[in-house]
Amino acid sequence: MAGFWRQRVVAGCLLLLSYLLTCSLRCAESSKSSNIVLILTDDLDLELGGLTPLKKTQALIADAGVTFSNAYTATPLCCPSRSSILSGKYPHNTMVHNNSLSGNCSSKAWQSNQESRAFPVYLSKLFYQTFFGGKYLNQYGSEEAGGVKYVPPGWDQWHALVGNSKYYNYTLSVNGQAETHGDNYEKDYLTDLILNKSLNFLDQRSPQYPFFVMLCPPAPHAPWTAAPQYQKSFIDVKAPRDGSFNKPGKDKHWLLRQPPNPMANSSIDYLDDAFRKRWQTLLSVDDMVEKLVKKLEDIKEINNTFIFFTSDNGYHTGQFSLPTDKRQLYEFDIHLPLLVRGPGIKPKQTLSDPVMNIDLAVTILDIAGVNVSALNMDGQSFLPQLVPSARNGTSRPYFLVEYSGEGLFPADPDCPKLGPGLANCFPDCVCEDACNNTYACVRTLKDNNFQYCEFADNESFVEFYNLTSDPHQLENIVKKVDPALLQTMNQRLIKLQSCAGKSCRELK
Ligand SMILES: *[C@@H]1O[C@H](CO)[C@@H](O)[C@H](O)[C@H]1NC(C)=O
Ligand SMILES: *[C@@H]1O[C@H](CO)[C@@H](O)[C@H](O)[C@H]1NC(C)=O
Ligand SMILES: *[C@@H]1O[C@H](CO)[C@@H](O)[C@H](O)[C@H]1NC(C)=O
Ligand SMILES: *[C@@H]1O[C@H](CO)[C@@H](O)[C@H](O)[C@H]1NC(C)=O
Ligand SMILES: *[C@@H]1O[C@H](CO)[C@@H](O)[C@H](O)[C@H]1NC(C)=O
Ligand SMILES: *[C@@H]1O[C@H](CO)[C@@H](O)[C@H](O)[C@H]1NC(C)=O
Ligand SMILES: *[C@@H]1O[C@H](CO)[C@@H](O)[C@H](O)[C@H]1NC(C)=O
Ligand SMILES: *[C@@H]1O[C@H](CO)[C@@H](O)[C@H](O)[C@H]1NC(C)=O
Ligand SMILES: *[C@@H]1O[C@H](CO)[C@@H](O)[C@H](O)[C@H]1NC(C)=O
Ligand SMILES: *[C@@H]1O[C@H](CO)[C@@H](O)[C@H](O)[C@H]1NC(C)=O
Ligand SMILES: *[C@@H]1O[C@H](CO)[C@@H](O)[C@H](O)[C@H]1NC(C)=O
Repeated sequence: MAGFWRQRVVAGCLLLLSYLLTCSLRCAESSKSSNIVLILTDDLDLELGGLTPLKKTQALIADAGVTFSNAYTATPLCCPSRSSILSGKYPHNTMVHNNSLSGNCSSKAWQSNQESRAFPVYLSKLFYQTFFGGKYLNQYGSEEAGGVKYVPPGWDQWHALVGNSKYYNYTLSVNGQAETHGDNYEKDYLTDLILNKSLNFLDQRSPQYPFFVMLCPPAPHAPWTAAPQYQKSFIDVKAPRDGSFNKPGKDKHWLLRQPPNPMANSSIDYLDDAFRKRWQTLLSVDDMVEKLVKKLEDIKEINNTFIFFTSDNGYHTGQFSLPTDKRQLYEFDIHLPLLVRGPGIKPKQTLSDPVMNIDLAVTILDIAGVNVSALNMDGQSFLPQLVPSARNGTSRPYFLVEYSGEGLFPADPDCPKLGPGLANCFPDCVCEDACNNTYACVRTLKDNNFQYCEFADNESFVEFYNLTSDPHQLENIVKKVDPALLQTMNQRLIKLQSCAGKSCRELK
């Protein structure tokens, strides 16, 4: 008995001590740290003019800070990309390969090995008040992933969509409780709802501690349901007809050799309609940014808040005769919008440094005061590029883009005649993905603007582009370039595909 009580007293004292330490840390920390907002759109391209409808976003974020002209995703698919953003790691290290549980999207293995060390966990330990609203990972909320009651660590306020992007008729996990929504615009429109919830969070925050807000609207992902007031916008807009639009991909990998060229008129009508609707959905994102910035001004936090605006992957509408999707290695699918404003950042800058979605976690933790050189993440901080500091930014001579193709067994129901191993087929049998659309690419930007890609298919197909002379990747010059250059690129690829942490950053 006596032993038991002695233990209790010791435990109580330790608890008190840790409270005191915590408090003094909190007080010391709070005066220094900036607030952080991350707005992660879904499928927003850069190459097709995706930022064009976002006029207020451009004025309030880009014009107030930095536009990155060379931001890239490590992989052009929602769940793997979002997993990379949260963990700061390439897909070969997150082991999230696709949007299915079997590909580790929201799986138990992801939860215990990666999510438990994702950047929001660190922010929470540094006494950031954290808020999440919107689409998380495609399998979030499914029974096998723990259902709606599962709330990932690090979040104080959790308002996450169950499943993939929707605008109406969805379920949210609100701090572990299911909240179902119908299709009444004033009550349910997801882009507006998560904004409203974030504004409430900001009103209720405790001003002495910093905050982190992550807003993930469904726009401009399918099903492209615009707010009622925007359903007549851009009525004359069509998908851009330049670059590789409606061009054949005959010198490219197997999947790109399949679509008929020119495209069927019905496909063109379909993609024009999709393009227009995507832009319509973005007008609510633009309102979101305006209202959020206005709130930050009202609560006098705007000058101490970093705002990041980006996307998980790019998009195509008709490029190389593929109707609509994002799973290809070309610039339209991997090149991202990235805008950042914040304290110490000079307005109206364009920076050409190569940055990646795997850098967001490290950069955000750098802002929060974490010693990022001790982190085991593959990305690197671009805070030194944003804000002049004593530390120089890490250079990045080349980087990796990797993707695991999805294919259905048996065949895709929209195209049984092509057999198994294909996915995302349109009724006219043009398919956007296949098991052997599995590739890894090295991209260089600094001295030479090259892309070198190897496929895991039964042709061991290779593509090489010189983007200086061929920005739209119309000609695969693998048979023309010096074999020594191909060998150098192959060696870089091998190195990157097995890199982890430091070895992904320390490249020559
Ligand atoms: C899922 O991730 C775990 C580690 O987190 C790994 O052991 C497993 O092989 C991964 N699954 C696949 C299909 O890659
Ligand atoms: C929402 O679900 C209801 C009931 O199933 C349906 O009638 C309605 O069309 C759906 N709304 C949207 C926008 O999908
Ligand atoms: C969001 O808040 C605005 C302003 O209060 C309100 O008009 C709108 O209906 C709300 N939307 C949703 C989906 O909650
Ligand atoms: C597509 O429409 C154009 C006119 O807009 C017409 O000239 C062309 O023949 C049509 N192509 C097909 C394949 O129907
Ligand atoms: C933020 O800083 C700007 C420029 O220094 C200043 O004009 C503005 O009043 C500040 N806003 C707030 C809310 O403190
Ligand atoms: C940051 O971490 C690195 C690597 O662990 C260490 O060498 C360095 O001393 C640390 N810097 C500070 C300021 O703690
Ligand atoms: C940063 O880079 C410049 C130019 O390369 C160099 O002169 C300077 O010493 C570097 N500073 C640090 C802190 O490494
Ligand atoms: C997702 O990845 C897993 C593991 O590689 C694989 O078993 C599964 O077939 C993939 N899903 C699709 C739809 O390709
Ligand atoms: C890719 O997979 C499809 C479907 O299984 C197959 O028909 C095709 O021959 C494969 N192509 C290559 C180059 O591996
Ligand atoms: C590639 O694999 C497919 C089946 O997936 C087969 O039909 C085709 O003949 C193979 N091609 C070569 C060049 O081996
Ligand atoms: C790439 O294109 C540029 C501009 O046309 C040219 O100077 C350079 O030699 C090309 N490099 C290769 C490897 O083709």
